[in-house]
This record gives sequence, C-alpha cells and structure tokens, in this order.
Amino acid sequence: MGVSGSGKTTLLTLLAGLDLPTKGKIYWGKEHLNELNENERAKLRLGSAGFIFQNFELLPSYTALENVLLPLELTRTENALEIAKQCLKEVGLGKRLSHYPKQLSGGEQQRVAIARAFATQPKVFFADEPTASLDQNTSKLVIEFLTEYHRQYKPTMIFVTHDEELSEICHRRIYLRGGKIARGL
Ligand SMILES: Nc1ncnc2c1ncn2[C@@H]1O[C@H](COP(=O)(O)OP(=O)(O)OP(=O)(O)O)[C@@H](O)[C@H]1O
Ligand SMILES: [Mg+2]
Repeated sequence: MGVSGSGKTTLLTLLAGLDLPTKGKIYWGKEHLNELNENERAKLRLGSAGFIFQNFELLPSYTALENVLLPLELTRTENALEIAKQCLKEVGLGKRLSHYPKQLSGGEQQRVAIARAFATQPKVFFADEPTASLDQNTSKLVIEFLTEYHRQYKPTMIFVTHDEELSEICHRRIYLRGGKIARGL
C-alpha cells in the first residue's frame, strides 16, 4: 500500500523479475534474478508465478478464452481448454469466452487478467490493484475467489491495493513511501 508514485508497481515488477534493480540483489529461492537473462527469467516465471498488471496487458487479437489458454499451452498443461473455461467461469465470465478485450468492459478485462494469472496454479502470485476496475459486487466475487483459491492451493499472494476489503484478507501489510518501505516489514 502507499500513495500514487510511491513505488508499488516498481516493487512488484522487481519481485516478479519483470525488471531488474539498478542496485541490490533479488533471489527467488536460490535463483539470483540479476544473473538470469530475460528468457531465463521468463521461463522461471512461466512455471511458478502469475502476474496481473495494473493495465491488464491482455493480447488484443486474442479472445478472452485464448488469452487464458496461452499460459496453459505454453506450459503444455493437460485439459487446457476445460481449465481455461473453468477459470473464466469462476470470475463470472462464463458467457464472455469469445469476446475480444476491446469488446469487454474494464472490469471484465481485469477479470480475464485474473483468470489468466491463476490458470497455471502459480506458487507465487503478483497482482497490481486487482480490484481497481471492479464495482463492489464484482470486487466481492473476486475477493471470494482469491480467498478460496488461497485456502485450496496456499500460494504466496502479493497484492498492491487501495481496497480495504482486499487488504483485510492479507496476513501482512507493507506500506511504501517515496520508494522506501515505511512500515510493515
Ligand atoms: N521505468 C521507469 N523509469 C524511471 N522512473 C520510473 C519508471 N517507472 C516508474 N518510474 C517512477 O517511479 C515512481 C514510482 O512509480 P510506480 O509506478 O512504482 O508508482 P505506484 O506506487 O505504482 O503508483 P500508482 O498508485 O499511481 O500506480 C514514479 O515517480 C514513477 O514516475
Ligand atoms: Mg502502480
């Protein structure tokens, strides 16, 4: 948590290995992220991390279903189609499978991004304001989904959020100010 510009997205992209720090080292278990090239980091992420971007980053020429299918096909997951459909159903988009991102509302796009990040059952899950584009009811549905997912699979989940309800399900809250951790660690 922290005000706009305090470094939340920057921290999340560093933790996920989407960016590298100018100073300091980042480890995932024994893997030193600074020493891996972009392809190696992408490979590592594909197998174990899910990421929901603040601006969703859905592929515009892919339907909702195809967007969710992509990581499943890249990881050669069995029953990819059924899993992708089920994930979209769980975030309330069972009737939007063949819509393209531009035919979806902001909140629907956000939920496709959530389904895509969860489809491969990542061990670590990063989400940049995952409920920011959702109304209260849809936000509740997504928070219930996240809570239930955590109960079942016990992944590490790291959220950037301004949403009180979402922050309440977290075991620990860390506050950033001016690019530094102000409190919470
Ligand atoms: N690639 C970059 N190069 C240089 N500065 C950057 C870069 N990306 C972000 N910044 C700067 O770093 C600071 C933190 O940005 P960041 O996007 O992490 O903020 P944030 O806490 O996520 O804000 P918001 O709540 O508005 O999303 C900002 O001042 C921003 O201008
Ligand atoms: Mg941000």
